[in-house]
Amino acid sequence: MSILKFQYIMSNEIAKRSFISRPSEPPASVLINDPYKAIFVGTTSIFKVPFSWSFENVTNPHIAVVGITGSGKSYFVKTFLIRANYIWGTNAIIIDWAAEYLDWVRQSNGKIISLGKGDYLNILDLSGIPPINRTKQIMNALEILTDISMFPEQRRLTEEGIEQSYTNMGFKLPVPPPEGKECPTLHNVISLLQEKLQEGTYEYPAELENAIYRLRQFAREGQDFFSRKSTIDMKKLASSGLVDIDLSGLPDEQHRALAALVILQILKERMRIEGWNVNKGLKTLVVLDEAWKIAGDEKSDAVMIVREGRKYQFGLIVASQNPTDINEAIFSNVGTTFILRTRFEKFLNYIQSSLNFSDAIREEISKFGVGQAAVDMAFQSNLNFPQVFTLERIRGEEPLYVYRIDMTEILTKSELDSRAMPKDYQFEAAELKNKLIEINMSSDAIAGIISAIESNNRSISMREFVGLLTRNNSNTRDIISFLKSLSIDDIIITRIISDIGMAEHT
Ligand SMILES: Nc1ncnc2c1ncn2[C@@H]1O[C@H](COP(=O)(O)OP(=O)(O)O)[C@@H](O)[C@H]1O
Ligand SMILES: [Mg+2]
Repeated sequence: MSILKFQYIMSNEIAKRSFISRPSEPPASVLINDPYKAIFVGTTSIFKVPFSWSFENVTNPHIAVVGITGSGKSYFVKTFLIRANYIWGTNAIIIDWAAEYLDWVRQSNGKIISLGKGDYLNILDLSGIPPINRTKQIMNALEILTDISMFPEQRRLTEEGIEQSYTNMGFKLPVPPPEGKECPTLHNVISLLQEKLQEGTYEYPAELENAIYRLRQFAREGQDFFSRKSTIDMKKLASSGLVDIDLSGLPDEQHRALAALVILQILKERMRIEGWNVNKGLKTLVVLDEAWKIAGDEKSDAVMIVREGRKYQFGLIVASQNPTDINEAIFSNVGTTFILRTRFEKFLNYIQSSLNFSDAIREEISKFGVGQAAVDMAFQSNLNFPQVFTLERIRGEEPLYVYRIDMTEILTKSELDSRAMPKDYQFEAAELKNKLIEINMSSDAIAGIISAIESNNRSISMREFVGLLTRNNSNTRDIISFLKSLSIDDIIITRIISDIGMAEHT
């Protein structure tokens, strides 16, 4: 039990104390929604209000999620998708860069589309869209992914080639295509351009050759994932329950980005036709996780969808470990942003300047552990209350195991008293493992270290931890780089290292 003591204190000191300067939260009436019509996310930090999210009271259903690796972004997205499906029967399409969601979708009996591993997506597929519009979209994707916009003549030749390939197969450019009619592919476009080259009448053959070369990247033998008849029915995609589009089998980032762009374009076009209608609920959620090329480029559909707000029948979820990879227009236009653990000053600066939250909130964010989050919501209400509030933790479906490395033995009394000095470092198992991999530990050594910490209630003192590393043959340089990766001050690192030196000699 502690003893209560009186003390004299200046009022300006009191004002600095967090309980008074802390901003309050939006009113409970806004945070709490009918549980059958909203997604429970977690309780707020200050007033412990159960916060549930609904698209009905925000300006649009689009969501941004930021936070460092291991902060819980994917965990949040999965939780969100499960609950949205339960409440609104929402479908989900995950554009899965690194096959991060694959196992989970498989376990949940979702549908898996593996591009590059058996599935194909013909980028000339129309999916009900008039050829002239589809051609523009394809050109837009090429502009984002290649240097085509720097070569106007090549751009023109390519665009004409695509249009011509539609016309040759009997499509009328401005008219929606007849149901079931087979579309041309990039191979057709390339052949057309080649014929033109062989005719020998075109003035600038080098321009033609370069235009052909550019398209060939996406149509090479064995890598023609985008130039064969589609195995995906884009028309059905948005209403197929949980779908994972696994892009990990594609050869490089450019191919992955092309797939993501095309899928977004077609979804957008199809949903635009239906238009937003609150009564229809949230029909589909489209997830873009770590898709920096798509989230960053001004011309990308991700940016346009978010800008154009509510007019689509779907919500876009954009997640990234690096907020500066996400176009600022996304932050300033999404209805909701979830900010998870973020330690880098430059990222905090960027998010803070985009979302305009107080320094007190910033300070809280910089201390977040795994699963903690700040939420920014653009409420559809002109009442005056803070838009950003923090959650104790995102309450998801899986248990969280935190591993602690305790610093109290290492720190001096005044350091222990200082609020700025972390008293411990916390990791989720996967994160700790990754850090140990980074300092070249073998997987056997890692397993040993994890189980040693596990057996001690998932907590270990820094001294013991560094001792474990040394006994597992880590050299001083690796240990220092581990400590530096936690942003520990050099003086304290020196103290820790000289500590083990002493232990070895005694
Ligand atoms: N709110 C949470 N509650 C419980 N466990 C969590 C929570 N957030 C994350 N985790 C766990 O932390 C680990 C890292 O989360 P993950 O979502 O993969 O991070 P990220 O996608 O940001 O890299 C996972 O093992 C996950 O189960
Ligand atoms: Mg992730």
